[in-house]
Amino acid sequence: MPKHEQILLKNMSQSGYSGSLADYERAGGYQAIRKALGKIAPADVTAIVMKSGLRGRGGAGFPTGVKWGFLPKDHRGPRYLCCNADESEPGTFKDRQLMERDPHQLLEGIVLAGYAIGAESTYIYIRGEMVLGSKILERAIEEAKAAGYVGRNILGTGVNVDIVVHRGAGAYICGEETALLESLEGKRGLPRVKPPFPATHGLYNKPTVVNNVETLANLPHILNRGAEWFSSIGSPPKSTGTRIFCVSGHVKRPGNYEVPMGVTFRELIYEQAGGMRGDKPIKAFIPGGASAPFLTPAHLDVKLDFESVAAAGSMLGSGGVTVMEEGTSMVWAALRLMEFFYHESCGKCSPCREGSSWLVQTMRRIVAKQGRAQDLETLTDLCKNIAGRTVCAFGDAEVAPIMSTLKHWRQEYVALIHEADAANLIRSIPTGT
Ligand code: NAI
Repeated sequence: MPKHEQILLKNMSQSGYSGSLADYERAGGYQAIRKALGKIAPADVTAIVMKSGLRGRGGAGFPTGVKWGFLPKDHRGPRYLCCNADESEPGTFKDRQLMERDPHQLLEGIVLAGYAIGAESTYIYIRGEMVLGSKILERAIEEAKAAGYVGRNILGTGVNVDIVVHRGAGAYICGEETALLESLEGKRGLPRVKPPFPATHGLYNKPTVVNNVETLANLPHILNRGAEWFSSIGSPPKSTGTRIFCVSGHVKRPGNYEVPMGVTFRELIYEQAGGMRGDKPIKAFIPGGASAPFLTPAHLDVKLDFESVAAAGSMLGSGGVTVMEEGTSMVWAALRLMEFFYHESCGKCSPCREGSSWLVQTMRRIVAKQGRAQDLETLTDLCKNIAGRTVCAFGDAEVAPIMSTLKHWRQEYVALIHEADAANLIRSIPTGT
Protein backbone atom coordinates (compact mmCIF):
# COMPACT_ATOMS: atom_id res chain seq x y z
CA MET A 1 0.00 0.00 0.00
CA PRO A 2 1.71 3.27 -1.07
CA LYS A 3 2.15 5.87 1.68
CA HIS A 4 0.83 8.69 -0.52
CA GLU A 5 -2.28 8.87 -2.69
CA GLN A 6 -1.47 7.77 -6.22
CA ILE A 7 -3.04 9.80 -9.01
CA LEU A 8 -1.18 9.14 -12.24
CA LEU A 9 0.09 5.68 -11.36
CA LYS A 10 -3.12 4.60 -9.60
CA ASN A 11 -4.77 2.63 -12.39
CA MET A 12 -1.67 0.73 -13.38
CA SER A 13 -0.97 -0.26 -9.77
CA GLN A 14 -4.27 -2.20 -9.64
CA SER A 15 -3.72 -5.88 -10.26
CA GLY A 16 -4.91 -6.99 -13.68
CA TYR A 17 -5.09 -3.44 -15.11
CA SER A 18 -4.20 -3.79 -18.78
CA GLY A 19 -4.47 -0.19 -19.98
CA SER A 20 -7.23 -1.16 -22.43
CA LEU A 21 -10.13 1.19 -23.11
CA ALA A 22 -12.50 -1.06 -21.15
CA ASP A 23 -10.19 -1.04 -18.11
CA TYR A 24 -9.72 2.73 -18.31
CA GLU A 25 -13.48 3.31 -18.53
CA ARG A 26 -14.08 0.96 -15.56
CA ALA A 27 -11.59 3.06 -13.57
CA GLY A 28 -13.62 6.22 -14.34
CA GLY A 29 -11.74 7.15 -17.50
CA TYR A 30 -13.07 9.59 -20.11
CA GLN A 31 -15.43 11.20 -17.57
CA ALA A 32 -13.44 14.44 -17.71
CA ILE A 33 -14.08 14.97 -21.42
CA ARG A 34 -17.78 14.16 -20.86
CA LYS A 35 -17.76 16.83 -18.18
CA ALA A 36 -15.79 19.45 -20.11
CA LEU A 37 -16.37 19.23 -23.87
CA GLY A 38 -19.17 21.54 -24.93
CA LYS A 39 -20.11 22.17 -21.28
CA ILE A 40 -17.17 24.17 -19.94
CA ALA A 41 -15.95 26.89 -22.32
CA PRO A 42 -12.36 26.34 -23.57
CA ALA A 43 -11.20 29.57 -21.88
CA ASP A 44 -12.65 28.29 -18.60
CA VAL A 45 -10.77 24.99 -18.95
CA THR A 46 -7.60 27.08 -19.29
CA ALA A 47 -8.62 29.09 -16.23
CA ILE A 48 -9.12 25.87 -14.21
CA VAL A 49 -5.68 24.60 -15.22
CA MET A 50 -4.15 27.97 -14.35
CA LYS A 51 -5.85 27.94 -10.94
CA SER A 52 -4.65 24.39 -10.23
CA GLY A 53 -1.06 25.64 -10.37
CA LEU A 54 -0.03 22.77 -12.68
CA ARG A 55 3.52 23.33 -13.94
CA GLY A 56 5.29 21.55 -16.79
CA ARG A 57 6.70 18.15 -15.88
CA GLY A 58 9.25 17.96 -18.72
CA GLY A 59 11.90 19.93 -16.88
CA ALA A 60 11.42 23.68 -17.03
CA GLY A 61 8.34 23.77 -14.76
CA PHE A 62 6.60 26.54 -16.69
CA PRO A 63 2.96 27.08 -15.56
CA THR A 64 0.79 25.14 -18.01
CA GLY A 65 -2.29 27.39 -17.99
CA VAL A 66 -0.11 30.47 -18.46
CA LYS A 67 1.58 28.83 -21.46
CA TRP A 68 -1.82 28.09 -23.03
CA GLY A 69 -2.83 31.68 -22.34
CA PHE A 70 0.04 32.94 -24.53
CA LEU A 71 -1.68 31.68 -27.70
CA PRO A 72 -2.96 34.66 -29.70
CA LYS A 73 -6.71 35.02 -29.12
CA ASP A 74 -7.44 36.57 -32.52
CA HIS A 75 -5.57 33.98 -34.62
CA ARG A 76 -7.58 32.44 -37.46
CA GLY A 77 -6.42 29.14 -38.93
CA PRO A 78 -4.85 26.08 -37.35
CA ARG A 79 -3.28 25.85 -33.92
CA TYR A 80 -1.37 22.80 -32.83
CA LEU A 81 -0.71 20.80 -29.71
CA CYS A 82 2.42 18.65 -29.50
CA CYS A 83 2.85 16.18 -26.71
CA ASN A 84 6.56 15.96 -25.96
CA ALA A 85 7.14 12.25 -25.45
CA ASP A 86 10.79 12.33 -26.50
CA GLU A 87 11.89 11.53 -22.95
CA SER A 88 15.66 11.18 -23.27
CA GLU A 89 17.11 12.80 -20.19
CA PRO A 90 19.47 10.24 -18.59
CA GLY A 91 17.81 8.71 -15.54
CA THR A 92 14.29 9.68 -16.62
CA PHE A 93 11.74 6.97 -17.47
CA LYS A 94 8.34 8.09 -16.18
CA ASP A 95 6.70 9.16 -19.45
CA ARG A 96 7.50 5.79 -20.91
CA GLN A 97 5.62 4.04 -18.11
CA LEU A 98 2.66 6.43 -18.41
CA MET A 99 2.38 5.73 -22.15
CA GLU A 100 2.92 1.99 -22.02
CA ARG A 101 0.76 1.22 -18.99
CA ASP A 102 -2.10 3.76 -19.12
CA PRO A 103 -2.23 5.24 -22.64
CA HIS A 104 -5.85 6.43 -22.43
CA GLN A 105 -5.06 8.67 -19.46
CA LEU A 106 -2.67 10.55 -21.74
CA LEU A 107 -5.09 10.57 -24.68
CA GLU A 108 -7.84 12.04 -22.49
CA GLY A 109 -5.40 14.75 -21.36
CA ILE A 110 -4.52 15.53 -24.98
CA VAL A 111 -8.19 15.86 -25.96
CA LEU A 112 -8.78 18.22 -23.01
CA ALA A 113 -5.74 20.36 -23.88
CA GLY A 114 -6.64 20.35 -27.61
CA TYR A 115 -10.16 21.50 -26.70
CA ALA A 116 -8.88 24.24 -24.37
CA ILE A 117 -6.48 25.76 -26.90
CA GLY A 118 -8.55 25.06 -30.02
CA ALA A 119 -6.15 22.58 -31.63
CA GLU A 120 -7.84 20.04 -33.89
CA SER A 121 -4.55 18.43 -34.95
CA THR A 122 -2.35 17.13 -32.17
CA TYR A 123 0.84 15.10 -32.28
CA ILE A 124 2.59 12.79 -29.88
CA TYR A 125 6.29 13.10 -30.69
CA ILE A 126 7.61 9.91 -29.14
CA ARG A 127 11.23 8.94 -28.70
CA GLY A 128 12.18 6.63 -31.58
CA GLU A 129 13.48 3.88 -29.31
CA MET A 130 10.09 3.55 -27.59
CA VAL A 131 8.70 1.21 -30.20
CA LEU A 132 6.43 -0.59 -27.75
CA GLY A 133 5.02 2.71 -26.44
CA SER A 134 4.26 3.96 -29.93
CA LYS A 135 2.45 0.73 -30.85
CA ILE A 136 0.44 0.83 -27.63
CA LEU A 137 -0.52 4.46 -28.26
CA GLU A 138 -1.52 3.79 -31.86
CA ARG A 139 -3.75 0.92 -30.76
CA ALA A 140 -5.25 3.06 -27.98
CA ILE A 141 -5.98 5.89 -30.43
CA GLU A 142 -7.83 3.46 -32.70
CA GLU A 143 -9.86 2.18 -29.72
CA ALA A 144 -10.65 5.72 -28.55
CA LYS A 145 -11.63 6.81 -32.06
CA ALA A 146 -13.99 3.86 -32.45
CA ALA A 147 -15.62 4.78 -29.13
CA GLY A 148 -15.99 8.46 -30.11
CA TYR A 149 -13.47 9.90 -27.63
CA VAL A 150 -10.92 11.03 -30.22
CA GLY A 151 -11.31 12.35 -33.76
CA ARG A 152 -14.19 14.27 -35.28
CA ASN A 153 -17.33 15.31 -33.41
CA ILE A 154 -16.21 13.80 -30.10
CA LEU A 155 -19.20 12.33 -28.21
CA GLY A 156 -21.51 14.35 -30.49
CA THR A 157 -20.25 17.68 -29.10
CA GLY A 158 -18.96 19.02 -32.41
CA VAL A 159 -15.43 19.15 -30.97
CA ASN A 160 -12.66 17.74 -33.19
CA VAL A 161 -9.34 16.61 -31.78
CA ASP A 162 -7.26 14.20 -33.83
CA ILE A 163 -4.09 12.57 -32.48
CA VAL A 164 -1.16 11.37 -34.58
CA VAL A 165 1.83 9.46 -33.21
CA HIS A 166 5.19 10.49 -34.69
CA ARG A 167 8.34 8.56 -33.84
CA GLY A 168 11.60 10.46 -33.49
CA ALA A 169 14.86 9.09 -34.83
CA GLY A 170 16.94 8.94 -31.67
CA ALA A 171 18.34 12.44 -31.15
CA TYR A 172 18.28 13.81 -27.60
CA ILE A 173 18.02 17.36 -28.92
CA CYS A 174 14.59 16.62 -30.40
CA GLY A 175 13.20 16.77 -26.86
CA GLU A 176 13.98 20.49 -26.96
CA GLU A 177 10.67 21.92 -28.05
CA THR A 178 11.77 23.88 -31.12
CA ALA A 179 14.03 21.08 -32.40
CA LEU A 180 11.03 18.79 -31.92
CA LEU A 181 8.94 21.09 -34.13
CA GLU A 182 11.64 21.20 -36.81
CA SER A 183 11.83 17.41 -36.77
CA LEU A 184 8.04 17.09 -36.95
CA GLU A 185 8.11 19.35 -40.01
CA GLY A 186 10.47 16.86 -41.64
CA LYS A 187 13.65 18.87 -41.18
CA ARG A 188 16.83 18.15 -39.25
CA GLY A 189 16.10 18.58 -35.54
CA LEU A 190 17.98 21.76 -34.66
CA PRO A 191 16.73 24.25 -32.05
CA ARG A 192 15.29 27.57 -33.15
CA VAL A 193 16.13 30.87 -31.53
CA LYS A 194 13.49 31.85 -28.92
CA PRO A 195 11.69 34.26 -28.95
CA PRO A 196 9.52 33.94 -30.90
CA PHE A 197 8.13 31.13 -28.74
CA PRO A 198 6.07 28.27 -30.17
CA ALA A 199 3.01 29.90 -28.59
CA THR A 200 3.00 32.37 -31.47
CA HIS A 201 5.35 30.78 -34.07
CA GLY A 202 5.35 27.02 -33.63
CA LEU A 203 4.60 24.08 -35.87
CA TYR A 204 4.41 25.31 -39.50
CA ASN A 205 4.82 28.80 -37.98
CA LYS A 206 1.38 28.55 -36.37
CA PRO A 207 0.47 29.00 -32.68
CA THR A 208 1.52 25.81 -30.90
CA VAL A 209 1.63 24.42 -27.39
CA VAL A 210 4.26 21.81 -26.48
CA ASN A 211 3.44 19.94 -23.27
CA ASN A 212 5.13 16.95 -21.65
CA VAL A 213 3.38 13.55 -21.24
CA GLU A 214 3.09 13.74 -17.44
CA THR A 215 1.76 17.31 -17.63
CA LEU A 216 -1.04 16.25 -19.98
CA ALA A 217 -1.81 13.09 -17.99
CA ASN A 218 -2.71 15.29 -15.00
CA LEU A 219 -5.50 17.09 -16.87
CA PRO A 220 -8.31 14.51 -16.57
CA HIS A 221 -7.79 14.47 -12.79
CA ILE A 222 -7.80 18.26 -12.52
CA LEU A 223 -11.03 18.49 -14.53
CA ASN A 224 -12.66 15.67 -12.57
CA ARG A 225 -11.64 16.72 -9.08
CA GLY A 226 -11.18 20.46 -9.44
CA ALA A 227 -8.45 23.06 -9.30
CA GLU A 228 -8.72 23.46 -5.50
CA TRP A 229 -8.19 19.75 -4.94
CA PHE A 230 -5.06 19.76 -7.12
CA SER A 231 -3.64 22.96 -5.66
CA SER A 232 -4.00 21.58 -2.13
CA ILE A 233 -1.59 18.72 -2.93
CA GLY A 234 2.16 19.14 -2.68
CA SER A 235 3.89 22.39 -1.77
CA PRO A 236 1.38 25.12 -2.55
CA PRO A 237 1.24 27.73 -3.89
CA LYS A 238 4.10 27.23 -6.37
CA SER A 239 4.65 23.48 -6.55
CA THR A 240 1.25 21.80 -6.61
CA GLY A 241 0.26 18.21 -7.32
CA THR A 242 2.33 15.06 -7.31
CA ARG A 243 5.37 14.21 -9.36
CA ILE A 244 6.68 10.93 -10.58
CA PHE A 245 10.32 10.65 -9.60
CA CYS A 246 12.45 8.11 -11.42
CA VAL A 247 14.93 6.76 -8.88
CA SER A 248 17.95 4.97 -10.31
CA GLY A 249 21.48 4.10 -9.26
CA HIS A 250 22.68 2.50 -6.06
CA VAL A 251 19.34 2.06 -4.29
CA LYS A 252 17.60 -1.14 -3.25
CA ARG A 253 14.43 -0.54 -5.28
CA PRO A 254 15.01 1.59 -8.37
CA GLY A 255 11.78 2.65 -10.09
CA ASN A 256 9.11 5.30 -10.56
CA TYR A 257 7.59 6.76 -7.39
CA GLU A 258 4.66 9.17 -7.38
CA VAL A 259 4.78 11.44 -4.34
CA PRO A 260 3.33 14.84 -3.50
CA MET A 261 5.79 17.60 -4.26
CA GLY A 262 7.49 18.72 -1.07
CA VAL A 263 8.53 15.33 0.37
CA THR A 264 12.26 15.23 1.06
CA PHE A 265 14.98 13.46 -0.90
CA ARG A 266 15.57 11.46 2.28
CA GLU A 267 12.04 10.06 2.14
CA LEU A 268 12.24 9.36 -1.58
CA ILE A 269 15.58 7.56 -1.36
CA TYR A 270 15.34 5.85 2.04
CA GLU A 271 11.60 5.06 2.30
CA GLN A 272 10.23 4.86 -1.24
CA ALA A 273 13.29 3.41 -2.96
CA GLY A 274 14.26 1.23 0.04
CA GLY A 275 17.54 2.94 0.91
CA MET A 276 21.05 2.34 -0.30
CA ARG A 277 22.12 -0.93 -1.91
CA GLY A 278 24.15 -2.91 0.65
CA ASP A 279 23.36 -0.17 3.22
CA LYS A 280 26.43 1.79 2.11
CA PRO A 281 26.50 5.52 2.85
CA ILE A 282 25.21 7.81 0.13
CA LYS A 283 27.81 10.00 -1.54
CA ALA A 284 25.90 12.04 -4.12
CA PHE A 285 22.68 12.32 -6.06
CA ILE A 286 21.47 14.09 -9.17
CA PRO A 287 18.06 15.54 -8.36
CA GLY A 288 16.46 16.14 -11.74
CA GLY A 289 18.04 14.42 -14.70
CA ALA A 290 21.56 14.74 -16.09
CA SER A 291 21.09 18.47 -16.73
CA ALA A 292 20.73 19.16 -12.99
CA PRO A 293 23.80 19.92 -10.85
CA PHE A 294 24.82 17.13 -8.41
CA LEU A 295 23.85 17.42 -4.75
CA THR A 296 25.46 15.94 -1.62
CA PRO A 297 24.19 14.07 1.49
CA ALA A 298 23.91 17.50 3.17
CA HIS A 299 20.95 18.10 0.82
CA LEU A 300 18.95 14.99 1.79
CA ASP A 301 16.41 17.06 3.72
CA VAL A 302 15.77 19.42 0.83
CA LYS A 303 12.15 19.27 -0.29
CA LEU A 304 11.30 17.99 -3.72
CA ASP A 305 9.66 21.13 -5.02
CA PHE A 306 10.80 23.59 -7.66
CA GLU A 307 11.82 26.37 -5.26
CA SER A 308 13.59 24.27 -2.62
CA VAL A 309 15.75 22.40 -5.13
CA ALA A 310 16.62 25.67 -6.89
CA ALA A 311 17.58 27.21 -3.54
CA ALA A 312 19.90 24.23 -2.95
CA GLY A 313 21.72 25.12 -6.18
CA SER A 314 20.18 22.56 -8.54
CA MET A 315 16.83 21.95 -10.24
CA LEU A 316 13.92 19.55 -10.08
CA GLY A 317 14.16 19.18 -13.86
CA SER A 318 12.74 16.04 -15.40
CA GLY A 319 12.36 14.13 -12.12
CA GLY A 320 15.23 11.70 -12.72
CA VAL A 321 16.96 11.11 -9.37
CA THR A 322 20.23 9.21 -9.77
CA VAL A 323 21.79 8.06 -6.51
CA MET A 324 25.48 7.25 -6.00
CA GLU A 325 27.05 5.38 -3.08
CA GLU A 326 30.27 6.06 -1.20
CA GLY A 327 33.15 4.82 -3.34
CA THR A 328 31.82 6.19 -6.63
CA SER A 329 34.33 8.36 -8.45
CA MET A 330 32.67 11.71 -8.99
CA VAL A 331 35.11 12.60 -11.76
CA TRP A 332 34.21 9.40 -13.56
CA ALA A 333 30.49 10.05 -13.02
CA ALA A 334 30.83 13.54 -14.50
CA LEU A 335 32.81 12.15 -17.45
CA ARG A 336 30.13 9.52 -18.07
CA LEU A 337 27.49 12.27 -18.43
CA MET A 338 29.85 14.47 -20.42
CA GLU A 339 30.33 11.63 -22.94
CA PHE A 340 26.55 11.60 -23.36
CA PHE A 341 26.32 15.35 -23.96
CA TYR A 342 29.29 15.27 -26.35
CA HIS A 343 27.59 12.55 -28.37
CA GLU A 344 24.24 14.38 -28.41
CA SER A 345 25.38 17.96 -29.12
CA CYS A 346 23.50 18.86 -32.31
CA GLY A 347 26.39 20.99 -33.57
CA LYS A 348 24.43 24.15 -34.30
CA CYS A 349 26.25 26.45 -31.83
CA SER A 350 30.06 26.58 -31.78
CA PRO A 351 30.49 26.88 -27.98
CA CYS A 352 28.57 23.63 -27.47
CA ARG A 353 29.85 21.77 -30.54
CA GLU A 354 33.54 22.54 -29.98
CA GLY A 355 33.37 22.97 -26.21
CA SER A 356 31.79 19.58 -25.55
CA SER A 357 34.62 17.93 -27.46
CA TRP A 358 37.29 19.80 -25.46
CA LEU A 359 35.50 19.08 -22.19
CA VAL A 360 35.32 15.38 -22.92
CA GLN A 361 38.98 15.22 -23.99
CA THR A 362 40.13 17.00 -20.85
CA MET A 363 37.95 14.85 -18.59
CA ARG A 364 39.13 11.62 -20.26
CA ARG A 365 42.71 12.71 -19.71
CA ILE A 366 42.11 13.37 -16.00
CA VAL A 367 40.30 10.06 -15.45
CA ALA A 368 43.13 8.22 -17.27
CA LYS A 369 45.54 9.81 -14.72
CA GLN A 370 47.22 11.85 -17.42
CA GLY A 371 45.80 15.18 -16.32
CA ARG A 372 47.79 18.37 -15.96
CA ALA A 373 47.76 20.97 -13.21
CA GLN A 374 46.14 23.57 -15.49
CA ASP A 375 43.27 21.24 -16.50
CA LEU A 376 40.96 22.40 -13.72
CA GLU A 377 41.29 25.98 -14.84
CA THR A 378 40.71 24.89 -18.46
CA LEU A 379 37.55 22.99 -17.47
CA THR A 380 36.16 25.97 -15.56
CA ASP A 381 36.99 28.34 -18.38
CA LEU A 382 35.37 26.08 -20.98
CA CYS A 383 32.21 25.68 -18.89
CA LYS A 384 31.90 29.44 -18.43
CA ASN A 385 32.20 29.94 -22.17
CA ILE A 386 29.49 27.40 -22.98
CA ALA A 387 26.77 28.12 -20.40
CA GLY A 388 24.37 30.81 -21.53
CA ARG A 389 26.04 31.10 -24.95
CA THR A 390 23.96 28.65 -26.93
CA VAL A 391 20.59 28.80 -28.66
CA CYS A 392 18.99 26.23 -26.33
CA ALA A 393 19.38 25.05 -22.75
CA PHE A 394 21.74 22.21 -23.82
CA GLY A 395 24.80 24.38 -23.15
CA ASP A 396 23.76 25.03 -19.55
CA ALA A 397 22.93 21.36 -19.10
CA GLU A 398 26.21 19.91 -20.34
CA VAL A 399 28.36 21.94 -17.96
CA ALA A 400 26.25 21.11 -14.87
CA PRO A 401 27.90 17.73 -14.04
CA ILE A 402 31.42 19.15 -14.30
CA MET A 403 30.77 22.44 -12.52
CA SER A 404 28.89 20.80 -9.65
CA THR A 405 31.38 17.95 -9.12
CA LEU A 406 34.22 20.49 -9.24
CA LYS A 407 32.36 22.48 -6.60
CA HIS A 408 31.65 19.61 -4.19
CA TRP A 409 34.44 17.08 -4.90
CA ARG A 410 37.31 19.18 -6.27
CA GLN A 411 39.79 17.16 -4.21
CA GLU A 412 39.00 14.08 -6.34
CA TYR A 413 40.06 15.92 -9.48
CA VAL A 414 43.17 17.18 -7.69
CA ALA A 415 44.05 13.68 -6.43
CA LEU A 416 43.84 12.22 -9.96
CA ILE A 417 46.05 15.01 -11.30
CA HIS A 418 48.55 14.46 -8.45
CA GLU A 419 48.66 10.77 -9.34
CA ALA A 420 49.41 11.80 -12.92
CA ASP A 421 52.18 14.13 -11.70
CA ALA A 422 53.64 11.36 -9.55
CA ALA A 423 53.59 8.92 -12.45
CA ASN A 424 55.31 11.48 -14.68
CA LEU A 425 57.92 12.09 -12.01
CA ILE A 426 58.62 8.38 -11.69
CA ARG A 427 58.85 8.07 -15.48
CA SER A 428 61.27 11.00 -15.60
CA ILE A 429 63.76 9.35 -13.19
CA PRO A 430 66.53 7.89 -15.35
CA THR A 431 66.69 4.11 -15.06
CA GLY A 432 69.90 2.18 -14.29
CA THR A 433 71.33 4.81 -11.90
P1 NAI B 1 12.21 27.22 -21.15
O1 NAI B 1 12.23 27.77 -19.77
O2 NAI B 1 12.89 27.97 -22.25
O3 NAI B 1 10.69 27.10 -21.61
C1 NAI B 1 9.70 26.45 -20.90
C2 NAI B 1 8.40 26.50 -21.67
O4 NAI B 1 7.74 27.75 -21.49
C3 NAI B 1 8.53 26.36 -23.18
O5 NAI B 1 7.45 25.61 -23.66
C4 NAI B 1 8.49 27.78 -23.70
O6 NAI B 1 8.02 27.85 -25.02
C5 NAI B 1 7.51 28.40 -22.72
N1 NAI B 1 7.76 29.85 -22.53
C6 NAI B 1 8.69 30.39 -21.70
N2 NAI B 1 8.62 31.73 -21.78
C7 NAI B 1 7.65 32.05 -22.65
C8 NAI B 1 7.11 33.28 -23.15
N3 NAI B 1 7.56 34.47 -22.76
N4 NAI B 1 6.12 33.21 -24.06
C9 NAI B 1 5.64 32.03 -24.47
N5 NAI B 1 6.10 30.82 -24.03
C10 NAI B 1 7.09 30.84 -23.13
O7 NAI B 1 12.78 25.75 -21.02
P2 NAI B 1 12.97 24.58 -22.10
O8 NAI B 1 14.18 24.84 -22.94
O9 NAI B 1 11.68 24.32 -22.81
O10 NAI B 1 13.26 23.31 -21.18
C11 NAI B 1 14.48 23.13 -20.49
C12 NAI B 1 14.32 22.00 -19.51
O11 NAI B 1 14.08 20.79 -20.17
C13 NAI B 1 15.57 21.76 -18.67
O12 NAI B 1 15.38 22.46 -17.47
C14 NAI B 1 15.60 20.25 -18.47
O13 NAI B 1 15.28 19.91 -17.15
C15 NAI B 1 14.51 19.73 -19.35
N6 NAI B 1 14.91 18.57 -20.14
C16 NAI B 1 14.07 17.50 -20.12
C17 NAI B 1 14.36 16.37 -20.83
C18 NAI B 1 13.46 15.17 -20.75
O14 NAI B 1 13.79 14.10 -21.30
N7 NAI B 1 12.32 15.25 -20.08
C19 NAI B 1 15.56 16.32 -21.70
C20 NAI B 1 16.37 17.48 -21.63
C21 NAI B 1 16.05 18.58 -20.89
